[in-house]
Amino acid sequence: MTYQTIIEPFRIHSVEPMRMTTPSERRSALEVAGYNLFALRAEDVLIDLLTDSGTGAMSRDQWAAIQHGDESYAGSPSWFRFLASVQELFPFPHVIPTHQGRAAEKILFNVIGGPGKVIPNNTHFDTTRANVEATGAEALDLVIAEGHDPAALHPFKGNMDLDRLGDLLARRRDDIPVVFVTITNNSGGGQPVSLANLRSVRALCDQYGVPLFLDACRFAENAWFIREREEGQGERDVADIVREIASLADGMTMSAKKDGMANIGGWLAMSDPDWAQRCREVLILTEGFPTYGGLAGRDLEAIAQGLHEVVDHDYLRYRIQSTAYLGEALHESGIPVVRPIGGHAVYIDARALLSHIEPLEYPGQALAIALYEAGGIRSCEIGTVMFGLHPDGTEVAAALDLVRLAIPRRTYTQSHIDFVIEVCRDVASRAKDLRGYRIVESPKALRHFTARFAPLAT
Ligand SMILES: Cc1ncc(COP(=O)(O)O)c(C=O)c1O
Repeated sequence: MTYQTIIEPFRIHSVEPMRMTTPSERRSALEVAGYNLFALRAEDVLIDLLTDSGTGAMSRDQWAAIQHGDESYAGSPSWFRFLASVQELFPFPHVIPTHQGRAAEKILFNVIGGPGKVIPNNTHFDTTRANVEATGAEALDLVIAEGHDPAALHPFKGNMDLDRLGDLLARRRDDIPVVFVTITNNSGGGQPVSLANLRSVRALCDQYGVPLFLDACRFAENAWFIREREEGQGERDVADIVREIASLADGMTMSAKKDGMANIGGWLAMSDPDWAQRCREVLILTEGFPTYGGLAGRDLEAIAQGLHEVVDHDYLRYRIQSTAYLGEALHESGIPVVRPIGGHAVYIDARALLSHIEPLEYPGQALAIALYEAGGIRSCEIGTVMFGLHPDGTEVAAALDLVRLAIPRRTYTQSHIDFVIEVCRDVASRAKDLRGYRIVESPKALRHFTARFAPLAT
């Protein structure tokens, strides 16, 4: 008998209180925050689905590992345990620890970016795009067409469009220092990339002599999807699939706040000794000595242990099934969501749900605000607020206006998720009453973090 109930493959060991608020308290909190959910006090949030980054619960064994943290400035045993854990999955000779993913990106693009360069990716995450563009280089998204269609049921919607990549390489090979692939494709709905696609990207990179790097934040979730969905992969150990993915690449950037199962950390890894040397020089200027790079010894220990836990099949089965549980429930309620459901998050298609709100009036922001107001749920707009402002100051609608409900790892139970489903259904039933927003204050880059909004008059 196969039972249907998803059970969390862990018991609760210590608990954190969650604070209930009233709708009027939430309305005041929104006003104070300038209708930007990043500006809320976390205490005013009931269920925090803003991000899965650094928000997960660590295990008993990670907390125990932290006690082994050795804070020697150079050559700490914690560094060697971290290095061994990273290289067990990603056997790149050069591993450069950073305090989080964007630090790895900043260092790499400082070294290899610059004006006139172009860096293709299936879809650049916002910090990746910003770090590429900050050097004067161009960040180009080349995901397959299905990746732009929230309803297209492709098993690997994160795949790179090989024709467009091939065409770009043929035209501008000398301007392309690296090809990137993001696994899973966060900005495109948390969708996986297949092994077959990665192999083909590798072949194109070989043909043109361009290195291939992974933005590997959610590598274990991507590998689980490969095991579940790709022909001939169903019997493989996930760690083995991860090693094959690594073998196809020349390097990686990583935020350990996702599949590192830690609250902070990241790394940059690569094969090329010259690039590694130049990156380490920037690391010393910006992060720290190469055996700790912006992290405490205890953080290195938490990541080293987290990397063992993240490739556990029971964990990954629960992780992917529980995200699908939320997404499928919303779909069955008639709420438009990106399908198939991604690994770490459910993405509501706000442009479809709030079709009466123009993209430049930010339907994603309107929906995210409504979910908070109704049930204290914090989500994240991934759409025109996040991607609509271009370096030349022009604003255009993003490809999609999504609201991401990101699921922190091992943190919420099924009853929390049932509550989220109920709130989403309630808000969706009142979709026609929601109105758009305008931006009243905005920085020049990464505006979604700090912009302030005002509701449009009805
Ligand atoms: C795909 C992807 N790349 C890079 C990053 C940046 O990592 P960090 O937040 O650790 O700087 C993120 C964070 O959410 C991400 O999802």
